[in-house]
Amino acid sequence: MITTLRDLHSAIDTLREDFLSDASLDSSGKWELYLGKKGRFNELTQALKTLLPENRKDAGKLLNELKAWLNEQLPKSTDKKEREGDDRDPTVPGLDLGVGHLHPVTHAMHEITQIFERIGFTRVRYPEVDGDYYVFEALNMPKNHPARDEWETFFVDVPIDKKVGKIVLSTHTSNGQVREMERLGSTPPIRMINIARVYRRQSDVTHTPMFHQFEGLVIDTDINIQHLKGTIDHFAREFYGPGARSRIRPFHFMFTEPSFEVDFSCTICDGTGKLSNGEKCKFCKSGWHEVGGAGMVHPNVLRAGGIDPNVYSGFAFGWGIERTYTLRPGLHIDDIRMLYNGDLRLLEQF
Ligand code: PHE
Repeated sequence: MITTLRDLHSAIDTLREDFLSDASLDSSGKWELYLGKKGRFNELTQALKTLLPENRKDAGKLLNELKAWLNEQLPKSTDKKEREGDDRDPTVPGLDLGVGHLHPVTHAMHEITQIFERIGFTRVRYPEVDGDYYVFEALNMPKNHPARDEWETFFVDVPIDKKVGKIVLSTHTSNGQVREMERLGSTPPIRMINIARVYRRQSDVTHTPMFHQFEGLVIDTDINIQHLKGTIDHFAREFYGPGARSRIRPFHFMFTEPSFEVDFSCTICDGTGKLSNGEKCKFCKSGWHEVGGAGMVHPNVLRAGGIDPNVYSGFAFGWGIERTYTLRPGLHIDDIRMLYNGDLRLLEQF
């Protein structure tokens, strides 16, 4: 143990001698041994703790001199970067950091947006946490109307808003309909595609509590069902391939009249319900997949948006992106929840 300056002097002498006579190490090894973090120089500095306080100043000076001397002895090329570079092989391939990619649902959203933008629609976004007024009331669903039960709504525990009423997680993208009419100052033409997250109290193989919808709304003079059907058919061909067809069946929504449910032909059995070997198609059972709703905008909804139903008419449609997407040829994911459980074995395939 070093307790006096004399001890320190002799320890420094020994270190210098060892340094000069040590031929077994190359300069980088020497640097490590003498000046490295756990090297002999640092070891010596521990002496500062065991020396009497009045000797510490002198000891510091001696140690500084020693350090300067060691640095001088070691050739310049031993500076840290170069030392480490010595045994590096620049031809070894680097670590693969992996390239990130978009979630399949995000891809689908981009694609759907493009399909509609090419035929003159404008993508818009409206609140996903919205008031009762836009989610229900303006859509011809008065307070306490039983039709609201269908929407399995999440209510947000905040005070009622004076303008839009109770705050809910929007159950559908139809909340954008009257908002869009208002945005455009109630003056058609309107060609909107609204894509957003929506929320419902549900969870099974075809439902998740959060999912995405896209909603089309077209309002102009002389808009009729043929425009609706033509637009949906166009989407089917663009999204599923040239052979895809759509089918509309009578249904009921409060905010459209008449209303329809929309089906797309199955991409596995081409809408026949049968495979080429005569067996029943297990994916669709009937040749068709139900995807969502549509209809001609109800006059009360136009009125809520400040548009005169005697002058203008319109159609609307809306359905889930996850469902639409998982029906794509080659995908056929039959449990929609798989998209959201974060399993990279699935997600990395996209
Ligand atoms: N909003 C309806 C739903 O979520 C779908 C729909 C949209 C129906 C537009 C008609 C018109 O199921």
